[in-house]
Amino acid sequence: MKLAVIGSGIMGRGIAQVCITSGYETILVDIDDDALDKARTEIEQRLHREVEKQRMSQNEAASAFELLEFSSSITSAVWETSFVIECVPENLELKQSILSMIEKTKPQIIATNTSSISIDRLSEGLEDPSVLIGMHFFNPAPVMKLVEIVIGTRTSDDVIEKTQQLALQFKKEPIMVKDFPGFASSRLGVSLGLEAIRMVEQGVATPSDIDKAMTFGYRHPMGPLELTDYIGLDTRLKIAEYLNSTGISPSFDIPDLLKEMVNEGKLGRKTGEGFYKWEGGKRQ
Ligand SMILES: NC(=O)c1ccc[n+]([C@@H]2O[C@H](COP(=O)([O-])OP(=O)(O)OC[C@H]3O[C@@H](n4cnc5c(N)ncnc54)[C@H](O)[C@@H]3O)[C@@H](O)[C@H]2O)c1
Repeated sequence: MKLAVIGSGIMGRGIAQVCITSGYETILVDIDDDALDKARTEIEQRLHREVEKQRMSQNEAASAFELLEFSSSITSAVWETSFVIECVPENLELKQSILSMIEKTKPQIIATNTSSISIDRLSEGLEDPSVLIGMHFFNPAPVMKLVEIVIGTRTSDDVIEKTQQLALQFKKEPIMVKDFPGFASSRLGVSLGLEAIRMVEQGVATPSDIDKAMTFGYRHPMGPLELTDYIGLDTRLKIAEYLNSTGISPSFDIPDLLKEMVNEGKLGRKTGEGFYKWEGGKRQ
């Protein structure tokens, strides 16, 4: 089976690395040549690091890299592939138009790496919506074990089964989720983050102690406030606003503190200040 990954940004290049290190011939497609160059360099460097850390032999890394092709055109590149993973930016109209282009090349399965958009909405323009499924990887894709498989109301059983099998081939831990806003991961993760922000607002404890409650008490690798800083308060706010607008749960009421911090430009790691101070990408 030959795979294609459309979009070679943060997620696409990581997913392409997962595909080739699992032994699949893969075509990585992007309209931006610079993005493709960056992806090529980054994947080569990451494979090199795997060899240095003795998680792979030199031969294995070289053979994996040989499985990778690059292309700037969806239509010419994707024709011979049976499983396509779409990784373009999180925008409904853009994704719908790319998905229609992909469908014209007749793959058996089209998986989208959307982190929040409904699979049913995305499938609206497709002639055969049964081929579309969500395959939500986490960043960095080569490292993170979870793959959230999101099942649209019209996704076929065969597509669900084959996607689950592919996730297992990738040595990932797949979970099956219906097409509800926030799926499973964002719904739980964002509600925990918003509750932690409400606790800061109410003066329950310092951000550091609230985070310690989860790291030492519940064995989370990172507390919800540090994670919010890491992801970006603006990104978290956008997702929370979307989830709040769906009315699925009162957990997504937006704390005033989150809005205030975003207005003040305290976006977390990327601006150097959020719930913590950051320097050179490291928490102070
Ligand atoms: N960044 C994350 O942590 C993360 C985690 C999980 C899921 N996601 C989801 O993954 C998807 C991609 O996110 P990202 O962070 O990799 O974005 P990104 O901006 O890093 O990469 C997107 C790439 O798509 C390319 N692109 C745009 N239009 C295209 C087209 N017409 N044809 C081919 N390529 C095109 C861009 O040139 C860019 O290289 C989004 O749906 C996002 O929600 C992101």
